[in-house]
Amino acid sequence: MIIERLRQEHHNVERLLAVLERELKVLDHASHTDDEVLRGIMGYFALYPEVYHHPQEDLVFAKLKIRDSAAAAKIGDLASDHRKGTELLHCAAQAVAAVLADPEILREKAAKTCRDFIEHQRRHMKMEERDFFPAALRALEPQDWTEIAPTATSHNDPVFSDAAEQTFDALRARILHLAREAETDRYCEAFARIAGDVHSDHWRWRF
Ligand SMILES: [Fe+2]
Repeated sequence: MIIERLRQEHHNVERLLAVLERELKVLDHASHTDDEVLRGIMGYFALYPEVYHHPQEDLVFAKLKIRDSAAAAKIGDLASDHRKGTELLHCAAQAVAAVLADPEILREKAAKTCRDFIEHQRRHMKMEERDFFPAALRALEPQDWTEIAPTATSHNDPVFSDAAEQTFDALRARILHLAREAETDRYCEAFARIAGDVHSDHWRWRF
């Protein structure tokens, strides 16, 4: 199912954004970054979402415009939002490449450029999942999905598909390891926040 696949791809993108975010903390505060991972992640964003994911969404959106123009109008200009994401990605990729080539370059500025990209990506995916995907599921007819389907079947995600396992070598394994670590970080942070609430005056629990 196309929307399920797009949602799964969002999940994959979010995992890599979390890894990138972690690497940026290192970029901000220390000299050592995992250069290969940074290059790999920027390469992934330049390829998979740009070449497969967004064109697929654009096709679904084109159908939505025909089936429910009011719902499409509410979502706005999806293609322009994708273009904005591409611009921010290019800026982030250039900033990362510049820092990796010359570590003396202003790291804070590079990190800020990457954070702009991350923030836009997250806001954009949130909007698509909240507004665009449900509207498409409501409005598109079976024949619309059938027409879009051939463009969706032939490409496996280069980081997250099992088929890519043997070809994407150690970098893939390293990125997946970092993705799991980043998720653990988030759980820990969330737990710390909850624990903070539990121990605040308002929620004083006794153990
Ligand atoms: Fe998307």
